[in-house]
Amino acid sequence: MANRGNFSGRLGFIMAAAGSAVGLGNIWKFPYEAGQNGGAAFLLIYILLTFLLCYPIMLGEIAIGRKAASDAYGSYKQLGGKNWGYLGLYGILCGIMILSFYNVVAGWAFGYFLEISFGNLLDHPNYGTFFSEYVIDFWDNLIFSACFMAITAFIVLKGVQKGIEAASKIMMPALFSILILLIIYSLTLPNASAGISFYLLPDFSKINFQTVYSALGQAFFSLSLGMGALITYGSYVNKNQNILSSAATITVMDMSVAFLSGLLIFPLVFSQGQSPAEGPALVFVVLPGIFNSMGPIFGRVIGGGFFLLLCFAALTSTISLLEVPVAYFVDQKKWSRKSTTWLLAGIIFILGLPSMLSQGAVKMFSSLPFYQGRSALDFVSEVFSDISLPLGGCLMTIFIVRRWGTHNMSEELYQGNETYKNSLLEKYINFSIRYICPVILGIFSILIIIDKFYGVDKLMN
Ligand code: PHE
Repeated sequence: MANRGNFSGRLGFIMAAAGSAVGLGNIWKFPYEAGQNGGAAFLLIYILLTFLLCYPIMLGEIAIGRKAASDAYGSYKQLGGKNWGYLGLYGILCGIMILSFYNVVAGWAFGYFLEISFGNLLDHPNYGTFFSEYVIDFWDNLIFSACFMAITAFIVLKGVQKGIEAASKIMMPALFSILILLIIYSLTLPNASAGISFYLLPDFSKINFQTVYSALGQAFFSLSLGMGALITYGSYVNKNQNILSSAATITVMDMSVAFLSGLLIFPLVFSQGQSPAEGPALVFVVLPGIFNSMGPIFGRVIGGGFFLLLCFAALTSTISLLEVPVAYFVDQKKWSRKSTTWLLAGIIFILGLPSMLSQGAVKMFSSLPFYQGRSALDFVSEVFSDISLPLGGCLMTIFIVRRWGTHNMSEELYQGNETYKNSLLEKYINFSIRYICPVILGIFSILIIIDKFYGVDKLMN
C-alpha cells in the first residue's frame, strides 16, 4: 500500500484529534446551547451523555479506522463489504456540509479578530447591532471565509505530520492558557456569581426532551463523532498506541474547553445584564464587552488574541473536516492530494454561500419556507449535524454489533493496551455499543427528525 502518512506518535495523534474536537463547537456553540437550554441542567446531561455514549463511540471509530487503515468509505467497505461503504459515504457527505457552514462562522471569528485588533469594534456603542450588521456584510464575509478555507486547504495539503499535527501542537496549549486568563478576569466582574449559579446549579425542572437532544447533538458535534473524522484520523494511528487512553484524553480535553467557555461566558452575560438565551450571536455580542472594559490597548491585545485563538481552534477542526473527503478521493479514486484538496475546498466554499447569506443578507436563504421559516445556516447545521451525527453514531454501532463484531473491536483495542482484556471497562464499552448506544441514539434520531420538521409538541397534542 502507498504510504498514507502517519501521526508521529501518541502526542501527535492526541493533539490532532483534540484539535479536531476543540473548535467553534466548544467556544461558540456550547455556551449558546447551554444558555438556551437551561444552563446547568444542560451541562449535566451533556457530561453524562459524553461518558455514557460518546466515549464508546469514539473508541469504535478510532478502532475501525486503525484496523482498516483507510478513509471512512474504505474502512467500512473493507471491514463490512460494499454496502457498508455507503455509511462511510454518508459520513463524508455530512463532513462536507458541516464544513460548508462551519467555515462561514469561522469567517466571522476571523473578521472579529481583525475588527477588534484594529479597534473598530471596541468603539462601537452596541455590540448586538454591530454583529447583526456584520453578518450581512457580503464582501467581508466572502473574503474572510474564503481566506479561512484557503488556509485550511493549505494545511491539509501538507499532509498529516507536517500540516495537521504541527498546527495542532502549537494552537491547543495557547488556547487553554488564554481561556484560563480570561476566566480569572471575568470572575472578578460584578454580578459574576449570578452567571455561575445559572451555569453550575442545575434546575431539574428545566430538563425536557429538547434539553436532552440538544445536549446529544452538541456532544457529537463537539467530539467530531458520527461522520468518520475519527475513522480517518484513526487510520493514521500506529498499532502500538493505546487508543483507550488517547480517546479518554481527547474527550476530557474537549469537555474541559467547553466547560471553561461556559465558565467564561456566563459570568460575563450576567454581569452585562444580557440574556443567556441569545442564540448563535451570544459570544460575538458578549465577549467584546469584556475586552472593552479592559481599556483601549489592553482590550485590543487580549480581544484580538482571543479571537485569533478561536480561529486557530476552528482551523484545527476545519482541517479535520476537509481531510475526511480528501482522504476518500486520494485513497479510493487515487486523485492527487494537491488537486483534490483545492478542488474540494472550492466546492465546499460555494456550498457554504447560502449559509453565508442567510443571516438577513438574502431573504430567500434567511427564511426557508420548508424549514419553519428558519435560516439556511440553521437548516444545514441542524440537518447535517444535530440530526445526522447521532444517527451516524447509531448506524456505526449497528455496524459493529451486526457486521464487524464487538470482539473484533475489542481485539483492536487490546493492541496498545493489554490490560483492557476482560476488564470491567471492556464489559461496559461492549454493553454500551451493543445496547445503550443503538437504542438511545436510534430513538432520539427519529424524535429529533420529527421535532425539527414538524415540532414534537404538535405530535404530542
Ligand atoms: N468538533 C468540532 C468543533 O467542536 C466540529 C467538528 C465536527 C469537526 C465534526 C469535525 C467533525 O468545533
